[in-house]
Amino acid sequence: MISREEALEVFKKYNKSESLLHHAYCVEATMREFAVKKGEDPEYWGIVGLLHDIDWEMYPEEHCKKAPELLAPYFDSDFIHSVCSHGWGICVDVEPVKEMEKILYTIDELTGLVYATALMRPEKMVGMSVKSVKKKWSSKGFAAGVNRDLILKGSELCGIELPELIQTTIDALTKVSDAIGL
Ligand SMILES: [Fe+2]
Ligand SMILES: [Fe+2]
Repeated sequence: MISREEALEVFKKYNKSESLLHHAYCVEATMREFAVKKGEDPEYWGIVGLLHDIDWEMYPEEHCKKAPELLAPYFDSDFIHSVCSHGWGICVDVEPVKEMEKILYTIDELTGLVYATALMRPEKMVGMSVKSVKKKWSSKGFAAGVNRDLILKGSELCGIELPELIQTTIDALTKVSDAIGL
């Protein structure tokens, strides 16, 4: 498989916006964190996370449908399946099967909520608790674009309770806070 550095080059070839890059870093970091917890390969999980939205900026109407073509020169069909499965029931019918895919599906939206929570706090990621994220979760007007139902569906799918999902995402984003502008 190509290196993380090369994977980042591929991402940047198709995505120029800083907010998309930050989102890619958030999902990458969270996937790495879960891989370590699960005794799996953080490099592989991380690169899936880094590239999951590869086709979003240039082909928003074909999200997760254009990705196979963009990724085929670098990755095998297993990797591509994992990337596309995060759009399950949203833009494609590629079902998350592997544990890694189920976690990706779940944390894609959750990283957005944790990120948005950090933006509201003067201390950003420092000292953020699960409770503070849960509070924002319950506030309907806050980060309204974050699909809470999808996160709950994912939580059930991967068998990880919401507090653990949130805590692991907090840990991950704290580690990369400089890179994601927090
Ligand atoms: Fe996506
Ligand atoms: Fe995403």
